[in-house]
Amino acid sequence: MKIMVIAAHPNLNNSRANKALARELKDHTNISFRNLYQDYPNWNIDVEREQQLLLQYERIVFQFPFYWYSCPPLLKKWFDDVLTFGWAFGPEGRNLEGKEFMVATTTGGTKKQYRSGGYNWFTISELLRPIQSTLTRCNGTYLPAFTIYNANEGTDEYLMQEAKKYVEHIQNPMRLLVY
Ligand SMILES: Cc1cc2nc3c(=O)[nH]c(=O)nc-3n(C[C@H](O)[C@H](O)[C@H](O)COP(=O)(O)O)c2cc1C
Repeated sequence: MKIMVIAAHPNLNNSRANKALARELKDHTNISFRNLYQDYPNWNIDVEREQQLLLQYERIVFQFPFYWYSCPPLLKKWFDDVLTFGWAFGPEGRNLEGKEFMVATTTGGTKKQYRSGGYNWFTISELLRPIQSTLTRCNGTYLPAFTIYNANEGTDEYLMQEAKKYVEHIQNPMRLLVY
C-alpha cells in the first residue's frame, strides 16, 4: 500500500519522539515522509501540489506532537487550504473518496491522564474528533489513531519500540485496525 506521512513538527531536529518515528519509516519504500514545516517555512502552502500528492496515495497519515489538545497550527492551515469546496467536499468534491486517513500523535501526558476522570479529562480519540469529522466530511475513511504517550519522559529504548509499533500500525490493513 502506498502511504504518505505528512508530519507537522515545528522543530524536528530538536524532537525525540517524532524523530524516532521518522527514522523508523526510512527503510520502507512504500512510505513517503515529509514535514510541512520544512516544506513550507513561509507557511505558503502549494494547494495544487498537495492535492495532486493526495491523489497518488491510498493512505495518508498525519503525524504530529499533540499541542494544546490539537495539532500544530501549520497542519490546521493545511486542512483549511487544501481541503477545498468542490475538490474535497461539496456536491462535486469527491477526490478523497476511498482514501484512508489516520493520525499519529505524541503526547507529553500519560495514557492514564487521557481518560474521563483523568488529568486531561478526555481520551485522545475524543480530542481528535474535529480532525475525524473534517476527514469524514471530505469522504475519507478515518482509521484508529496511533499515540505515543509520555513522549518526553520515555527512554530512547521506549521510543524505539513505539516507533516499531507505529510502522506496523500504519501499514495494517483496515480490517485489523477496525475490528
Ligand atoms: C506548545 C505546546 C503545547 C503542548 N500541548 C500538549 C498537550 O495539550 N498535551 C500533551 O500531552 N502534551 C502537550 N505538549 C507536549 C508535546 O506533545 C510533547 O513535547 C511532544 O509530543 C514530544 O514530541 P517530540 O519529542 O517529537 O517533540 C505540548 C508541547 C508544546 C511545545
